Amino acid sequence: MRMRCSLAVRVSLTRLLSLSWIAVTQMVRTLLSLDHSRRKEEPKLIAEKLKSTRSGIMPTGYRPIVLIADDLDENRAFYSDLLEDDGYQVLTAEDGFQALELIRTYPIDLALVDVMMPKLSGLAVCSQIKADPATCLIPVVLITGCGAQDRVDGIERGADDFLTKPINRRELLARVRSLMRIKRLTDDLERAETVLFSLARSIEAKDVYTKEHCDHLSEYAVALGTRLGLPDEQVVALRRGGIVHDIGKVAVPEHILLKPGPLTAEERRIMEQHPLVGEEICSPLKSFGAVLPIIRYHHEKLDGSGYPDGLVGDEIPLTARIMATVDVYDALTTDRPYRSAMPRDSAFIEMWREVDLGWWDGSLVEEFERLINS
Ligand SMILES: [Fe+2]
Repeated sequence: MRMRCSLAVRVSLTRLLSLSWIAVTQMVRTLLSLDHSRRKEEPKLIAEKLKSTRSGIMPTGYRPIVLIADDLDENRAFYSDLLEDDGYQVLTAEDGFQALELIRTYPIDLALVDVMMPKLSGLAVCSQIKADPATCLIPVVLITGCGAQDRVDGIERGADDFLTKPINRRELLARVRSLMRIKRLTDDLERAETVLFSLARSIEAKDVYTKEHCDHLSEYAVALGTRLGLPDEQVVALRRGGIVHDIGKVAVPEHILLKPGPLTAEERRIMEQHPLVGEEICSPLKSFGAVLPIIRYHHEKLDGSGYPDGLVGDEIPLTARIMATVDVYDALTTDRPYRSAMPRDSAFIEMWREVDLGWWDGSLVEEFERLINS
């Protein structure tokens, strides 16, 4: 069984990665079509081409894109020449608003932002980049004219590094290269997460009755975890866990996964492997460390009658108990082949009956009911 599961998992991942490779090939073609000699003359055209490379996958030979925001022509020219000679692609902005427009539109890898700019200061630009989930991972280097106070302000706004005028060429390149290395690692992590989420959603999409189940679970679990005051790391794990908790179902044959009637003993045995297979798929990702207990234990019950390990009471991690609570609620309140969706009140009556049976954590059901009714 384990060998069959692993094979199925590998086949699905290979299929996904081959799709990614087609995207990579298209991006390489797009980047090769960029004409270096025209780049300085036609920034808008180049920007349009850069826009077409926004797919989240880095092709071989990719040249990272640096945004330079500075109101002085000579400064922009100085930074551009330096960075282009070092192999980067450059987009330039003359003020803060233009910088934000570019950073929201194009796949910028790093922003070099002068603190003193008209209309919108570099500090305000930095704040807005870091406040937007879509751009917050882009490293921001603030260029300051004075020193200590700008740095303190910049740190408070999430700046990743600082350069003080007059700019030292070697220092600028060293800082940009260092931040680009970190950015590359962050991008790799994001891509791995994207592949896992795509796989999880493709499994979910097989069953019309579980449509959007992952997103519901993710939202419910985050809301409940936040209400309980869980640390950020665990709330993030709940968000990810909501999406990937059933990823191990990739190894469950469709005739079992989509069977409308009750499963045979052998079919149930195969189905109950999915938490273990899911844990195996996600375990290579270090950033998913806190997600693994959610995946493995989301079908455990407090009285030990759950699977795969038959854990009892507090042996089941809190995050897995949260996921189980919201999973049951979402299952009860959505249509199934054998019954219609229950109204909210009926769902909680059923959940409290199952709390009395010793399955679910009553304190979590109570808190979740308050949350849903609030
Ligand atoms: Fe599950």
